[in-house]
Amino acid sequence: MRVGILTGGGDCPGLNAVIRAITVQGKREGWQIIGFKNGWAGVLENKWEELTEDKVEDIHREGGTILYTSRTNPFKEENGLQRIKDTLKETKVDALVAIGGDDTLGVANKLYQEGIKIVGVPKTIDNDLSATDYTFGFDSAVNVAIEAMDRLHTTAKSHNRVIVVEVMGRHAGWITLEAGIGGGAHIILIPEVPFDIEEVCQILIKRKDEGKSYSIVAVAEGAKAAKGSKFLTREVTREEKTDAFGNILLGGIAKVLEKEIAKRTGFETRSMILGHIQRGGRPSAFDRFLATRFGLKAGELVKEEKFGQMASLRGTDIISVPLKEAVGKRKEVPLKLYQEIVKPFWGR
Ligand code: F6P
Repeated sequence: MRVGILTGGGDCPGLNAVIRAITVQGKREGWQIIGFKNGWAGVLENKWEELTEDKVEDIHREGGTILYTSRTNPFKEENGLQRIKDTLKETKVDALVAIGGDDTLGVANKLYQEGIKIVGVPKTIDNDLSATDYTFGFDSAVNVAIEAMDRLHTTAKSHNRVIVVEVMGRHAGWITLEAGIGGGAHIILIPEVPFDIEEVCQILIKRKDEGKSYSIVAVAEGAKAAKGSKFLTREVTREEKTDAFGNILLGGIAKVLEKEIAKRTGFETRSMILGHIQRGGRPSAFDRFLATRFGLKAGELVKEEKFGQMASLRGTDIISVPLKEAVGKRKEVPLKLYQEIVKPFWGR
């Protein structure tokens, strides 16, 4: 049996742990494992390398992906489907494991509908896939953001400043929420709960009046003001163009808020965009463990020929769910959770 693996979409810590787990388990089964390079691009272009136990030794401790990645959408490429089928035939690959987020798994689901034997492994730092309680990469990203906020606290305090820190999470505020709470942000703004800039500034002024000389504002890259506001009625984008899956490239809201807060309050304000630093570096212990469990589950699904399924975490169990359920339904921060956890610390 020959099993192909690919990693697609934005990288995240833990991808290598999945690759290692599938390879180690596959070798026990006597399978040949081949890793396609650069996500779906490698399958389209027939670019791959054979994975051995030696090649994957210890890679679970490293961030990124040894297979490289891309945001290539084969259904946007000429003859994409046929080229994928041709590569699988030529390389004699019996089954594919696609490791990715909503976009990569969406392609996997379409390919499964086209008769390709495929299973999925969910990843994204955004943690916004509804079919799993957690995706690996998220915990590592939250830890990076918390570390950054800890550091920003001391400099903000020393200078009596407001610091706005921008956190990743395209449409879901999970990283901002968890890092904001853990990192002691005084205001937490997420895409799911549009904010009122006037209220934000009033809180900052109130804090100052109470003798609290500095403030940290955590803002998700996709946050925007409530309807009816004249300020920031849509997300701040890095570029107007979209990627091959139609995703907008967000970024820059911290800078916009920095200016607006300084203008409205007169406070010295700075901003910091954490950006891709949240995706880089070594995976946390939680992510290494989860990614390894997901990889082993993917191997089991292949062995049992349960194609069209994806590994998923429910509670403490690793289960499988149909790919078609896994895609297209975003997991957002529920308003109730946001209110329960953010409001008690709002402006404190
Ligand atoms: O989906 C993961 C993510 O890191 C988002 O949080 C972010 O908006 C996006 O990817 C950034 O994408 P890129 O790496 O293409 O700039």
